[in-house]
Amino acid sequence: MKPDTVRTRADLKQIVDEWRRSRLTVAMVPTMGALHAGHLALVRAASEAADRVVVTLFVNPKQFGPAEDFGSYPRTEDSDRALLAELGVDVLFAPSAAEMYPDSFATSVSVGGPAEGLETAFRPHFFSGVATVVAKLLIAGMPDRAFFGEKDYQQLLVVRRMAADLGLPTEIVGCPTVREPDGLALSSRNAYLDARERAAAPALHRGMAEAAERIRSGEPPEPAIADALAAIRGAGFVVDYLEIRNADTLAPVADWRKDPLRMLAAARLGRTRLIDNIPVPNPA
Ligand code: PAJ
Repeated sequence: MKPDTVRTRADLKQIVDEWRRSRLTVAMVPTMGALHAGHLALVRAASEAADRVVVTLFVNPKQFGPAEDFGSYPRTEDSDRALLAELGVDVLFAPSAAEMYPDSFATSVSVGGPAEGLETAFRPHFFSGVATVVAKLLIAGMPDRAFFGEKDYQQLLVVRRMAADLGLPTEIVGCPTVREPDGLALSSRNAYLDARERAAAPALHRGMAEAAERIRSGEPPEPAIADALAAIRGAGFVVDYLEIRNADTLAPVADWRKDPLRMLAAARLGRTRLIDNIPVPNPA
């Protein structure tokens, strides 16, 4: 029954090698499981783009800080597998921590450029953990394309930079953020929100969208961002950052009328940390 559950890189390689001999193309969707409609949109895009699809499920210890939620992160492999079966996924690659990081493991992939600032100021080890595991996953499966969500926009740019810099042959494809009807970006961590927090959570996206619209209409960015911050804080969030950056490089904006613009935010509601980002149209 599809998907085949594969636990080792050697077994994955054997399957992918066989596909390659039959000239089939391969897409990969890396995840940490607890799958929701955002992940499934990536899987659908992957299915349309290649003959065979590998979804990876690995809660990567290297991308969690000591005080973060590695222990409590939702682990729902059986229901994840059932969702992937419905979409016709060929392989679920779900390795153990020992398979990915044996005791002798001593390498870390460190990315500069888009990994500098924003998330890194609050989660200093996050992107080296992500880059290390994604490099290993891409090398293990050597897919033609790998699919990542814009939901984690800085991560998408970091993975793209890493794959290009290391000369990996995989094209990194970004897919739009899937949202609840009230605007909240789908996230496995939304399950941590209690009813009151869940009701307040859409204020993050709403505040950002209102600021983006004011900037598009030609208002200066500073007061629009200040009002967004006030509204988001008013809903009960503690804001880690809310910034507009160059969408291609995440460098500070040099030219508001010409640079591609992206607004990125991270904010905590109780014990839950949410991130979001949206494109900002250039001022009229
Ligand atoms: P995870 O949080 O499980 O997300 C897996 C992929 O799903 C990521 O590319 C993420 O951006 C995408 N995704 C999550 N929510 C989404 C949404 N609402 N809309 C669209 N895409 C969404 O991100 C990770 O895992 C890990 O860091 C990983 C890349 C797997 C490395 O461990």
